Amino acid sequence: MNFAGIYSPNPFWLASAPPTNTGEQVERAFEAGWGGAVWKTIGRPIQNVTSRFGAIDFANKKLMGFNNIELISDRPTETNLREMVEVKKRYPKHALIASLMVETKEEWRELIKQVEDAGCDGIELNFGCPHGMCERGMGSAVGQEPNILEMITGWAKEYARIPVIVKLTPNITDITIPAEAARSSGADAVSLINTIKSIISVDVNSFAPTPTVNGKGTNGGYCGPAVKPIAMHMVGAIARKHGKNLPISGIGGVSTWKDAVEFMLLGAGTVQVCTAVMHYGYRIIDDLTHGMKAYMNEKGFTSVGDFIGKAVPNYTDWGSLDLTYALIADIHDESCIGCNLCVVACNDGGHQCLSLNPEYKADGHTRKAPILKEEECVGCNLCKLICPAPGAISMKQIPYEKHYHGRTYRHGVMEMSHELHQ
Ligand SMILES: Cc1cc2nc3c(=O)[nH]c(=O)nc-3n(C[C@H](O)[C@H](O)[C@H](O)COP(=O)(O)O)c2cc1C
Repeated sequence: MNFAGIYSPNPFWLASAPPTNTGEQVERAFEAGWGGAVWKTIGRPIQNVTSRFGAIDFANKKLMGFNNIELISDRPTETNLREMVEVKKRYPKHALIASLMVETKEEWRELIKQVEDAGCDGIELNFGCPHGMCERGMGSAVGQEPNILEMITGWAKEYARIPVIVKLTPNITDITIPAEAARSSGADAVSLINTIKSIISVDVNSFAPTPTVNGKGTNGGYCGPAVKPIAMHMVGAIARKHGKNLPISGIGGVSTWKDAVEFMLLGAGTVQVCTAVMHYGYRIIDDLTHGMKAYMNEKGFTSVGDFIGKAVPNYTDWGSLDLTYALIADIHDESCIGCNLCVVACNDGGHQCLSLNPEYKADGHTRKAPILKEEECVGCNLCKLICPAPGAISMKQIPYEKHYHGRTYRHGVMEMSHELHQ
């Protein structure tokens, strides 16, 4: 496939991070089936810190959110360049992208020439790192300042003969602004997101943020499954604005083929993965490739181009939603396990439209699904979302006139606010 002039056997790339630290690793990843790799950022200065990582586990799942305070590659640039040459020699058809971060125009010129000479297929400008480098006016300090981003991308485009991807920081209010700056300075593509500025936890005994370095902690960069919704919104926002004119490499919380498909439906031409590989290894590529192939077969898609951006026209503003569309809960007795969690949730956090079935007995046998007061149900989805029994609650459409919103006798205020929206 062709992404902004960079060819790779499939749309799955490793993001610039520890899984792409060395040539030996990248070769193993290509052997396992990855289509491309963005090398761990090289540049200056070369230094690092221990410890570096922190994590949030959730409901017995490790690394729901992951955090790091490490800097760019701490290996000598010459070593990285030498290994890039070797990788490219052995894997000429795979995409090898050099991630770069330096300060002065002269340093950019020199490093771009070096990675081109090493045979890289593209360059990714790291304007996203939210710790360590931004204090020196690099990383996210560039990504947050559209004028500087435009200027440095302009330098890169002036010197580079290979495609230039601008990696954006999510630590900004409106992601379309730096994306526009990248596009207007001639970038061939954007990639996003880099990590989100964060404190992952505080050690309640030592009173320091984690990861802790000799008693002190600092803000780091957040990533992993927890950031996927944020990343997808940003990818979708850029796709809505620029359509196919600005290729997007989607990054942030991709672990499964379905995550990757979702990013691509929102306009990403390739996806990049870091945390999931740090957690489970390069082998997750099997799920990504096989799962996406099966999805494409099922839908009758013959190439990824058939579905890239397919959800973008359906991503709209709140004001354009159909306010006459009416849903209510539909509870299925045969699948209900009688836990009544939906009754509690609806009563305290919803709209008080579910009640215990009078025939229900807490004897473990007489499990009867709760009763829905249809005239109270606003179709919010809460009961369906919290229900632990697969298939026990779905939502069904009803005529608008029969719905909560369609009635004036009980909910005059809602009806008025609905009219105001029209
Ligand atoms: C330990 C670690 C180191 C990283 N180093 C870099 C880096 O050197 N350059 C860069 O552009 N992004 C770096 N990232 C960010 C990732 O490339 C990626 O944008 C981010 O982790 C989101 O993807 P994920 O949710 O799949 O991890 C790093 C991330 C982690 C966790």
